[in-house]
Amino acid sequence: MRLAGKTALITGGARGIGRAFAEAYIREGAKVAVADIDFEHARETAAELGEAAVAIKLDVTDQASIDNAVAETVAAFGRIDILINNAALFTAAPIVEIKREDYARVFDVNVAGALFTLQAVARHMIAAGVKGKIINMASQAGRRGEPLVAVYCATKAAVISLTQSAGLDLIKHGINVNAIAPGVVDGEHWDGVDAFFAKYEGKAPGQKKKEVGAAVPYGRMGVAEDLTGMAVFLASDEAGYIVSQCYNVDGGQWMS
Ligand SMILES: NC(=O)c1ccc[n+]([C@@H]2O[C@H](COP(=O)([O-])OP(=O)(O)OC[C@H]3O[C@@H](n4cnc5c(N)ncnc54)[C@H](O)[C@@H]3O)[C@@H](O)[C@H]2O)c1
Repeated sequence: MRLAGKTALITGGARGIGRAFAEAYIREGAKVAVADIDFEHARETAAELGEAAVAIKLDVTDQASIDNAVAETVAAFGRIDILINNAALFTAAPIVEIKREDYARVFDVNVAGALFTLQAVARHMIAAGVKGKIINMASQAGRRGEPLVAVYCATKAAVISLTQSAGLDLIKHGINVNAIAPGVVDGEHWDGVDAFFAKYEGKAPGQKKKEVGAAVPYGRMGVAEDLTGMAVFLASDEAGYIVSQCYNVDGGQWMS
């Protein structure tokens, strides 16, 4: 029960990694707001997670929606101790085909969404005197470029940079900001990634997944539950002296 008495707001919590974090946090004694643009799915997830979870409708590209999600979480649980900035979109295209609208859409969710959700929660934490924990979901994609993935990679590099700056700025309030960089994690997100590679590299559906799984030093793709240990640790009181870091949890793919 390393998170007993704590409350968490998890963006994009309806499915995938966000949902696995919600489950793990509840197992550790926390209460969780499952916040997602897909409100129906968030409601189903919260209902399955039980009394310790509430569903909240959140679009991280809409400031009023962010402010409302923070207010609703505080109304439900009294305060926010932990934010997981997890909502994100993936996109892929060769450099010569990238569309400005797609760039703007993905940056709006992955970068502006993360920054302004972090800002709203940090304002609450400072006002309420909460020495909180903020965890941003980065990616190995933020560690280096990829030929077809320029925009998504750039958003995740920006998330790592924002983590560093926000962590340095907010530690004076006792708020820790850190990030997790997963490698390849099986689930709906990667079904979408696989479809992009099928389109641009002419691979059969499922082929890219097999290839990336085989290339992981650990020997397989990750699953969301592979990340929960780090997510619980970084949200716990044990992580108080950790500031502005980004941890790779990727089966050995990246070293830095
Ligand atoms: N799956 C992977 O291989 C992988 C690898 C590295 C990093 N990541 C990162 O981990 C995080 C979670 O990934 P996942 O695989 O669970 O993704 P996912 O696509 O399965 O889930 C993302 C969730 O975010 C929600 N969302 C999208 N736009 C939103 C918006 N505007 N406002 C609120 N919610 C919104 C979606 O409805 C969805 O429930 C993301 O930040 C992703 O970039 C994933």
